[in-house]
Amino acid sequence: MFVSSLFLAGLSSLLCQLVIGAPTALGNGQRELCDVSGDHVHLGEPPNLLPQPQHNPSFVYLGVGTQNYTCNGSSYSSNGALAGLIDLSCTDESEYASIATEALSRWTAETNESNGNDFARNGGLGDLGVYLGEHFFVGNIPRWDFSVPGGIFEGNKNAFVMGAQPAAASIPAPTDTGSGNVAWLYLLRQDGELADEIYRTDTRGGVAPQSCSGSGSIQVKYVAVYWLTGGSIKN
Ligand SMILES: *[C@@H]1O[C@H](CO)[C@@H](O)[C@H](O)[C@H]1NC(C)=O
Ligand SMILES: *[C@@H]1O[C@H](CO)[C@@H](O)[C@H](O)[C@H]1NC(C)=O
Ligand SMILES: *[C@@H]1O[C@H](CO)[C@@H](O)[C@H](O)[C@H]1NC(C)=O
Repeated sequence: MFVSSLFLAGLSSLLCQLVIGAPTALGNGQRELCDVSGDHVHLGEPPNLLPQPQHNPSFVYLGVGTQNYTCNGSSYSSNGALAGLIDLSCTDESEYASIATEALSRWTAETNESNGNDFARNGGLGDLGVYLGEHFFVGNIPRWDFSVPGGIFEGNKNAFVMGAQPAAASIPAPTDTGSGNVAWLYLLRQDGELADEIYRTDTRGGVAPQSCSGSGSIQVKYVAVYWLTGGSIKN
């Protein structure tokens, strides 16, 4: 077993003893999440701040996957993303940033999985947290979906959220964690019942090279912490 997997497994079992709220049993009776309504969404550091949430957090999880880009002959433009989503709710919020760093190094070292969703669902991060669902794009609209196969609300067709970015809802990733990390984002619900607001914070990786030639597509591995607030489907 890799050191990083031991690290994540040990960390998560240790931190599960520090849980603030009592675990809540889910419908299928097999998997548990913890109450994150008192968590503090990471909004950045002044002067770069995301908008304050208007609702309490309902889910917090790690996304592990790729940001996709297409070359137009000279530069890359964004072309969707795909990630697997792993629950963080039973981990103390002070650990999210270091877990994101560790998860990217483990995901970067993985060469055998075709995408982050398979990696996450197949236990690539040890027993960090349960698999919740998948992040992907429908056209150019991002979607976080817990109704997918293996997802925590598998089969519940409303258990997703699609988001759009209001104005001024993106800040550069803080540089204390290095460069090459995609922006932090704030999005508002467009469709679905899983959330009213979506935050992407604590990003690791995911930025495309500055220039390119030809018309190829690339996938750049990334990890981020996502927070959902509000919504009518709760854990
Ligand atoms: C490619 O995209 C960049 C940035 O949007 C733009 O400046 C450039 O003109 C585009 N190149 C072509 C060949 O379309
Ligand atoms: C890589 O994936 C293949 C096919 O899923 C599997 O048979 C093989 O054991 C994997 N190798 C490693 C090192 O995980
Ligand atoms: C993005 O990349 C993933 C691999 O990580 C791939 O499975 C997916 O189809 C790609 N999505 C788009 C819109 O290109």
